[in-house]
Formats: sequence, structure tokens, C-alpha cells
Amino acid sequence: MALHIINHPMIQHKLTIMRKKETGTREFRELLKEIGMLMGYEITRDFPLKNVEIETPMQKMVAHELAGKKVVVVPILRAGLGMVEGLLTLIPAAKVGHIGMYRDESTHEPVFYYYKMPEGKDRMVILTDPMLATGGSACDAIKRLKADGYSNIRMMCLVAAPEGVKRVQMAHPEVDIFTAALDDGLNENCYILPGLGDAGDRIFGTK
Ligand code: PRP
Ligand code: URA
Repeated sequence: MALHIINHPMIQHKLTIMRKKETGTREFRELLKEIGMLMGYEITRDFPLKNVEIETPMQKMVAHELAGKKVVVVPILRAGLGMVEGLLTLIPAAKVGHIGMYRDESTHEPVFYYYKMPEGKDRMVILTDPMLATGGSACDAIKRLKADGYSNIRMMCLVAAPEGVKRVQMAHPEVDIFTAALDDGLNENCYILPGLGDAGDRIFGTK
């Protein structure tokens, strides 16, 4: 389906701070949380509403509420965790699943280690991972979710490489991808350029 580049000024400003090499763990984590919430506005923009009759202190009225769209937020561990809290601020009723995978340092292909989802295959999945590089991790995660019975999947990242977007779109054309930036490409180690470095390490202060 579609690639959505969320170029809202507040998101772009926060992303620029995150990209700077001098930005520390604490600020990086806080900004990712904030962006997770802001991007959530865009990812939920088409959620259906239904009319409900309510009474304000002044009079009766017909107001709108969400028409029961149920969501499961699924971070790809570790770095995807950084976007979960912000999304849950926006969608407090969402459940949370987890998919664990890391990239092998030499092949750059994902190595799977954990999968845990809540009940309810009818839920919309919002898969979070700040970095969409080769697209290997995202493709494997989506494949697993589909094999488990999920059919309504959206991908939320922060920085994407054209290679990763293409790979996901080829393998899973029905999955909408939301990103704050489409960067230039990958280096020889499959890191995104200009990117922001290793997202997991910057969130958790490792390395
Ligand atoms: C990073 C990132 C993605 C993946 C992207 O995770 O968070 O999951 O790499 O690369 P790809 O598109 O080429 O698959 P990493 O393997 O570094 O694990 P971590 O989050 O535990 O640090
Ligand atoms: N994973 C990251 O954390 N950063 C990249 O640039 C690529 C993969």
C-alpha cells in the first residue's frame, strides 16, 4: 500500500535533535516517546467514529466516539520499545505484543528470539521499530504476524531507507508504512545514512 512520510514540523524538529551525535540517552529516549505519540495521530487518522447521544451540563447532543477499533502495539525488540509509551498515551486501551529479533552482524539478516501476543487476531497491529534499514527485520516480523492470523498491520518507524521500504512493499504490499524521514540509503554495514546511528544503543545507553 502506501508510504506515509510524516513531515509535521514538531516531529521534524525533534528528529533533528535525535540525529545529532551529541544528544544523550535520556533526551533521545524522551524525544522518541514524544514522536511515538505524535506519529500516532497520523497512524490513527482514519479510525472510524460513531455517533453517541450524551448530555453535557448544558444540554443533550450527538457526539462522536471511536467505533471500537481495537489496537495491539507490537514493538520489535529492542528499539521498537522506545515508541510504545508514546503510542499508549494516545491509545491507552491498546494491548502490547512483543517480537524479539536482532540483526546478525555479518549477514545483517534478522535472528528471531521471542514472540508473544495478546488475545484477539481481529486487532489492528501497529508494528513499531524506529529503524527500517534493509527491511529484513520488518519483513520477518510481518510474516510472523500474518502466519499467526493478523491481517490488519501498519508499520511505524522513524527513519527509513529506500531499500527497506522497497523490500517491505514487495513482500507485504498491503502494509502501510509511516515514517518521519526517508533517508539516502545504507552504508556497507547496512546502517542508514545519514540516519541516527544504532537506535537500540542510543535508547538504552549500550555500547
Ligand atoms: C535494529 C533496528 C531494527 C533493525 C533494522 O535492531 O531496531 O530492528 O536493526 O534493520 P533491518 O531493517 O536491516 O532489519 P538491532 O538488530 O540493532 O537490534 P536492537 O534493537 O536490539 O539493538
Ligand atoms: N539499525 C539501527 O539501529 N540503525 C541503522 O541505521 C540500521 C539498523
